[in-house]
Amino acid sequence: MRMYIFGILIILFQWGCTHHRGQNSEPGSQDRKWWKEAIIYQIYPRSFNDSNGDGVGDLKGIIEKLDYIQSLGVTAVWLNPIYSSPNDDNGYDVSNYREIMKDFGTMEDFDRLLAGLHQRGIKLVMDVVVNHSSDEHVWFKQSRISRKNRYRDYYHWWPAEKGRPNYRYSLFDEKGDAWQYDSLTDSYYLHYFSRKQPDLNWENPKVRREVHNIMKFWAKKGVDGFRLDAFQFAAKDTTFPAFPEGFEKNFINYYAMQGNLHDYLKEMHEKVFSKYDVMSVAEGAGRNFEDAHKLVDPERKELNMAYAFEAVDLVKYNGYQLSDLKEVFSRWDSAFAKKGWLSIFLANHDQARLVSRYGNDSPEFRAASAKMLNTFLLSMRGTPYCYYGDELGMTNIGFDSIQQYRDIAAINGYKKARADGEDMKLYMKKLRFLSRDNGRTPMQWKTNKQAGFTTGEPWLPVNANYKLINVENQDRDSNSCLNHFRKMTALRKSNPVLVYGDYQIAQPEHKQVYAYFRKLESDQILVLLNFSAKTARISLPYRIDPEDILINNYSSVETEGTMKILKPYQAVIVNVN
Ligand code: NOJ
Repeated sequence: MRMYIFGILIILFQWGCTHHRGQNSEPGSQDRKWWKEAIIYQIYPRSFNDSNGDGVGDLKGIIEKLDYIQSLGVTAVWLNPIYSSPNDDNGYDVSNYREIMKDFGTMEDFDRLLAGLHQRGIKLVMDVVVNHSSDEHVWFKQSRISRKNRYRDYYHWWPAEKGRPNYRYSLFDEKGDAWQYDSLTDSYYLHYFSRKQPDLNWENPKVRREVHNIMKFWAKKGVDGFRLDAFQFAAKDTTFPAFPEGFEKNFINYYAMQGNLHDYLKEMHEKVFSKYDVMSVAEGAGRNFEDAHKLVDPERKELNMAYAFEAVDLVKYNGYQLSDLKEVFSRWDSAFAKKGWLSIFLANHDQARLVSRYGNDSPEFRAASAKMLNTFLLSMRGTPYCYYGDELGMTNIGFDSIQQYRDIAAINGYKKARADGEDMKLYMKKLRFLSRDNGRTPMQWKTNKQAGFTTGEPWLPVNANYKLINVENQDRDSNSCLNHFRKMTALRKSNPVLVYGDYQIAQPEHKQVYAYFRKLESDQILVLLNFSAKTARISLPYRIDPEDILINNYSSVETEGTMKILKPYQAVIVNVN
């Protein structure tokens, strides 16, 4: 089966390389959309800016930084969940979808934030977390009271007299078991994530109606888009058949895109997306290209975009291969060259820091490699999602002891690994490099205490390198990562070829350089990215005249005839018309 899919992918890829004028490459056509042209800046509110000294970032804190956000040149902000929550999973466990989490402020703060963004021409995308709710949501509190409660069917319950339900894997449970026994009604409930995140029953039309109404509530307020958290898991076969032993190693194949999921999305499109000018993006793109295409094929009227994990999943604790990265991005691009639209990202709140994972966070190369990676994200076809702090080249914090972690995935993962008798030294090594907490440390604003994030004690420590890596320093340095990021957003916005142009990889076998062309009508640009810490040579039959260089993270590019000589982590974009 894998070979079969791979064969199709190769054909698609070759086809994509030889047929350049895809539907997506017509910027003048009706296919132009704001969300295709958007540059999305993701803010993890807990870690961005704390306005009241309680150590937790908040909405007023974001409002204080609106001018900064605008200065980045981004055109939309995606906020991680800001709804009421007991914070078992930092807001991904919602107890009231129409209220703002107390730590983050009030609904007035939200309204001011939205207005402030809109005044600056920046759109707002909200996270919608409806594969599950919090166990402290009134629906679940009611649901667990009795088997006859009217909210009982809002969740998945399994009466204990039927015996233990078939095993389901939980991503965050300390035992890895997604069924939790509840003595109140002598039944088990399902939770793909933590015990405090019971899965909603999407097969129940009442649940779907509730969610549509919640989305309408926010759409009416004027939000511009929704990111659907873990939505690919929402539909389930409620007979809960047995899965083969070891399925959890490949659980996506069993959890994603089940049952009536596409119908639920079509219904959501009809009830919500078609009625408001909102964009929609799903976390997860299913099990294969067919799933991904179905999600985002405009004719099917489901979603605008999905984001796939294949590229972020390439990185293991001992690194990744550039050849794999190129292959994944090229394959996904060619599969969507004609229809549908991609999201481009390498980091978010579920990943460690961009520069630590894909670049080189040593003092010598951190800045160059961070600039190179941002050049990559902002020069690919697809909507780029840029994570707060990556514009500065913020790095992993690298905790050594489990007591330092705050993330439920790390804490419960540790308990499970220990119970399973795993090599805990290796486990901690992996966690140090890959943990989500790496990507959640407070934004580094200034050189003063706590990096200017808070006047109190931050909920997660500030990275010790904040005196060097911060907005204040980088703002006044024209060669900083921050200013490189700003140049890249400006370049993307003024060059439709970077948004809509076809993508074509050059010399895919090159060991150090990721080189590709973007082409749109008569515009053609070449992107050269040295992904290594060594000088790289690549021969391409194009002249690089200084006046044709659109961006460069060094002051010049060396050439010898057709040979381009790139310094460590050098990134150059050049017009090659
Ligand atoms: C995906 C989110 O991105 C992640 O942060 C969260 O823990 C899970 N979904 C559960 O909601």
